[in-house]
Amino acid sequence: MTETVGILGLGAYAPERVMTNADWAELVDTSDEWITTRTGIKERRFAAADETSADMAVSAAHRVLDDAGLDATDIDEIILATDTPEMYAPDTAAFVQYQLGAREIPAFDLAGSGCAGFLMALDVARTRAQLGRKRVLVLAVELISRLMNWNDRDTCVLFGDAAGGAVVGPGEDVIGMLGAAAGTDGSKAGILCLEAGGTRVPFSAEVAAAGLHQKVVMHGREVFREAVRRMSQVTHELLEQAGKSLSDIALVVPHQANMRILEAVGKRLGLAPERVFSNIREYGNTGSASVPLALCHARAQGRIAAGDLVLLTSFGAGFHWAGLLLEF
Ligand code: UT7
Repeated sequence: MTETVGILGLGAYAPERVMTNADWAELVDTSDEWITTRTGIKERRFAAADETSADMAVSAAHRVLDDAGLDATDIDEIILATDTPEMYAPDTAAFVQYQLGAREIPAFDLAGSGCAGFLMALDVARTRAQLGRKRVLVLAVELISRLMNWNDRDTCVLFGDAAGGAVVGPGEDVIGMLGAAAGTDGSKAGILCLEAGGTRVPFSAEVAAAGLHQKVVMHGREVFREAVRRMSQVTHELLEQAGKSLSDIALVVPHQANMRILEAVGKRLGLAPERVFSNIREYGNTGSASVPLALCHARAQGRIAAGDLVLLTSFGAGFHWAGLLLEF
């Protein structure tokens, strides 16, 4: 059997603390009914007070390595996607390299690419592995509960904390990566962003007093429309690229942004609801971590069989969107 580059292992981590809709209704002017009908979310997980982004990423990394049957010292490179880093600088990947006990390998973040970050990083890892970088650990982590505005009902009820990942490299019995596609429309950068803290709106006492450092700017309806359009578009691009049709796909695992977005994507693609995986009810929107978390849950629930084609799609701030076609 010859070796090909593919996914050698998968893993995900969600913190223990559960935050329900009823918990939110005690803090802001919202209700279980509103959150459930508008988003499909019932609960989400929040990190413990002493837990950081790097800690969560390392917890996920241990599961990825266990699944792959590898040690941290077997990893040749780390790429980490996040919008909620350990620090402004250095990047979260540096902390993870040390905490995980990896060798002195290249480790870097793919930062600010929103919910599409994991799939974009996975494709970078695929090409790096093919070029001889061997085993690349790809991680996605979001600890948004610590950085968001807990008084902003428009956004706070949507998000949850989680981490997930995959190791990409050569092997005989890999999850095949049949194709990848992605795109960016930077003209929409202001529709979904956290604008303070960079060079455009530097952090200052005034910024802090106005709470801008925690203000997720989000035009919900436009994000909704574009998410449906782009995740459907990238699905068609991937299928065309791979010479496959939708009937060949056993399961679509999309970014978990809103249950209504997932239903609309399924409808637009003409897929029965059971062919679009969702765990948003229990975890909310976990940003870049949502696709690896959902993929791990789909596999653990027996929704993926050997030989299945599984299509991953994602959409987020940027706007960025990405897709990946896997063969289990
Ligand atoms: O990963 C990418 C990140 N973001 C997304 O994917 C978000 C995409 N967009 C969405 O999921 C939806 O647009 C939302 C869930 C954010 C909002 O749902 P919607 O059906 O588009 O509602 P809306 O923005 O049109 O707001 C309807 C009403 C507003 O009140 P008025 O103006 O009609 O009186 C909001 O103030 O709902 C109000 N509202 C809430 N009410 C209770 C907004 N948030 C809440 C809340 N509880 N938490």
